Amino acid sequence: MTTASAPGKIILFGEHAVVYGRPAIAAPVTQVHADVEVKDSPQHGIWIDAPDISLQAELTTLPRSHPLSAIIISTLNTLGVASRLSLAIHIHSSIPVASGLGSGAAVSVAIVRALSAHLGHPLADDQVNELAYGTERLYHGTPSGIDNTVITYACPVYFVKGRTIETLLVGAPFTIVIGDTGIPAPTKESVADVRRLWQADLARWEKVFDDVGELARRARQAIEMGDATLLGELMDLNHELLQSLTVSNPDLDRLVHVALITGALGAKLSGGGRGGNMIALVKPDRAEIVANALRTVGAKNTIITTIK
Ligand code: PMV
Repeated sequence: MTTASAPGKIILFGEHAVVYGRPAIAAPVTQVHADVEVKDSPQHGIWIDAPDISLQAELTTLPRSHPLSAIIISTLNTLGVASRLSLAIHIHSSIPVASGLGSGAAVSVAIVRALSAHLGHPLADDQVNELAYGTERLYHGTPSGIDNTVITYACPVYFVKGRTIETLLVGAPFTIVIGDTGIPAPTKESVADVRRLWQADLARWEKVFDDVGELARRARQAIEMGDATLLGELMDLNHELLQSLTVSNPDLDRLVHVALITGALGAKLSGGGRGGNMIALVKPDRAEIVANALRTVGAKNTIITTIK
C-alpha cells in the first residue's frame, strides 16, 4: 500500500489579478489535507473510493472529463503504464470543497504522488505540478496555476503565472485565522464575472490589477522582513480592491469587519470570493479571540494556522 497527502492552501495576496499576470502570494494550510491510499486490488480495473463525495466506481465507468478520472488517466499516461491494472484508490479530504482552500488541487497532487509511487516511478515535483494544473483547468476554466503550485511545493510562494516559482523566506512567523462563510462558491463563476468586467472596461480593471500586483510586491517585502503591522495594512487594501472587483459579499465583509474590531492586524477574503473563506492576520495571543468572534457572527468553521 502507498499513501500520499497534500495540504490545503490560502491566498494571502493577489487572487483574481494573478489570472491577468500579476504576482500573488499563497501559503499551505497543513491543518486540512487530502489523503490518498493506493493498493493492489483483487479485482481487475482501477477502483476509486471517495466517500466524501459518495463516489465508488471503476475508472472506465466515469466520464473522462471527471476530475478524478482525468488526473488518474493523465498520471498513467505520463508514466507510460499499460491500462491493465488492478488497483484500489481510496481518497479522503478534510479540505472543504469550493471554499477557496484548494481541495481540488490537493486531491490531484495526492493522487499523482500516491499512484506514481505505488507503480514504482514517483514523479518529481514539477511533473506533479504540471499534472495537477491540467486538472485545475477542468475545475476552474482559466486557472492561474497558483493552487496546484503552492500545494505541490507545500511552502509559501510568490507566484507569477507562467514563471518559475519563487519560494518565500518568512522573516518571522505570522498567525492567520481562517473563517469559513460556509457558502460554497465555485471559483469558475467569480473568475468568469471578473473577466466580463474586465472586457467591458479594460483600462479601468487593468489599473485595479496593477494596484493588486503592487500590494503583492510590497507584501512580499513585509513577509520577508517579518513586518506584521505593514502586512495587515496591505491585506485591508487588498480586500478593498477585491470588493471593487465585486467578488466579496456581505458574509465575507461581515467576517472581515468582525476580525478587525476584535483585534486583527488586517483581514481580507481569500480565494475566488463570493463565499468560501476569509483570512485575518493576528498576533498569536488574539487568535482564539478572533476565531471565537468569527464563529459567533456566523463563520461555520475557523482554522488557526501559522505561516513560516
Ligand atoms: O481556488 P480559489 O478559490 O482559491 O481561487 C484561486 C484564485 C483565483 O485567482 C481567483 C483564480 C486563479 O486561478 O488564480
